[in-house]
Amino acid sequence: MTSRADFGKHHQHEVFSASRAAHLDTPMRRRLYHPERLAKRYVKPGYRVLDFGCGPGFFTREFAKQVGETGRVYAVDLQEEMLRIVREKLESEV
Ligand SMILES: C[S@@+](CC[C@H](N)C(=O)[O-])C[C@H]1O[C@@H](n2cnc3c(N)ncnc32)[C@H](O)[C@@H]1O
Repeated sequence: MTSRADFGKHHQHEVFSASRAAHLDTPMRRRLYHPERLAKRYVKPGYRVLDFGCGPGFFTREFAKQVGETGRVYAVDLQEEMLRIVREKLESEV
């Protein structure tokens, strides 16, 4: 029989640690994934975007550029440290 506690265990997964956040935002990864291309394709000025699991902001930055002054990007992450990094990064780039 499966208890509630067992149910929880089966659904545990590893979270990409904020201590390795720098590995998610590198020139090499930008060359591979072209986040600006994805943002330009799917996000238009004025859009409201939810970046769920934003990490250190690899896609957040490009979404923010695309939505412009009239739009908004909501960056959500489980780890407070990721949010601190993305906030600091985007504030220094504006
Ligand atoms: C592999 S990282 C990718 C980050 C970013 N999207 C990127 O492509 O660089 C996944 C992120 O999702 C976050 N995450 C995982 N599960 C989550 C949940 N249930 N709610 C919010 N954030 C979550 C982690 O903390 C981590 O920062």
